Amino acid sequence: MEEKKVVFFGGKGGVGKTTVSSAFSLMLTQEGKKVLLISTDPAHSLSDIFDTEVSNLDLLEIQPERVVREYVERAIEVVSQVMSPDTVREVEEVFRSVEEAPGAEESAVVEELSKVILSRWEEYDHFVIDTAPTGHTLQMIRTVSKVGPWLEELIRRRKKASSFWEASGRRKEDRVVEVLEERRTRLTKFAQLIFSHLTTFVPVLNPERLPIEETVRMLKALKGLHLGVDFMVINKVLPEGVREEFFLRRKRQEEEYLREIEERFRGVKKVKLHLRDRDVMGVQALKEIAQELKEGLKG
Ligand SMILES: Nc1ncnc2c1ncn2[C@@H]1O[C@H](COP(=O)(O)OP(=O)(O)O)[C@@H](O)[C@H]1O
Ligand SMILES: [Mg+2]
Repeated sequence: MEEKKVVFFGGKGGVGKTTVSSAFSLMLTQEGKKVLLISTDPAHSLSDIFDTEVSNLDLLEIQPERVVREYVERAIEVVSQVMSPDTVREVEEVFRSVEEAPGAEESAVVEELSKVILSRWEEYDHFVIDTAPTGHTLQMIRTVSKVGPWLEELIRRRKKASSFWEASGRRKEDRVVEVLEERRTRLTKFAQLIFSHLTTFVPVLNPERLPIEETVRMLKALKGLHLGVDFMVINKVLPEGVREEFFLRRKRQEEEYLREIEERFRGVKKVKLHLRDRDVMGVQALKEIAQELKEGLKG
């Protein structure tokens, strides 16, 4: 784990991504590491889980919806400075529709993650991200990194145009070129990082039908992008020594699923975390999970 600097946790809703990424971050801080835990889940719970501050751990909650809204507002503001009110109204409508466009929130998350991680790279030993990018997001990151030549051409043309403006004494510096160049540099760097050995993806699942299928999909998407996983976390495994008939029956079904997980995800290290008798809230409860995680990763 030592060399993995960026760790994404992913899986179906409710399997325990937020819990496990929090416990994992806590575990890293116990090893003396400085960690930034980033959540992109709109139903934010990091601040609920961490009832007290943990030294060497910072929390960051990104709200994709808000980020998209802010982009749109900013774009409209810029447009309204240079266009007639009628045009602005038309353009505004188009921009507003962007808010609902598929992928808008994913793009916003990529923008924010790339900005945060690259600008604070030296500050932290690890960046832990609650909620993994789907195959679609990863594809997007890869695509963006490949549009380098295209952006290059755009920048070249823009520069040519502005040198013409400059010659006619109309403009000195070009913000558009600056913005495009910054974006190209940042996203290319980010893609290199995501597709390097410094980044890893950790599927979280429960020994149940739907989470297993979701994990199959996630691994397939990662494989399609030539990305592997180092380990997966099987969360909410029933404790040993249950006696009651009802739980024994559940335990037998669970054993079948655990066998299935073993077979379908052969070659991937698996860390099991037991179901607790209460929801995992507060640093004290997280410490127990962190301990289980640590032992599982060792063994
Ligand atoms: N090992 C566990 N034992 C008991 N409750 C758990 C465990 N892991 C997670 N939970 C609880 O399950 C619920 C969903 O977990 P959460 O981490 O929010 O999932 P996700 O982020 O994947 O949606 C939360 O109420 C959490 O406290
Ligand atoms: Mg969550």
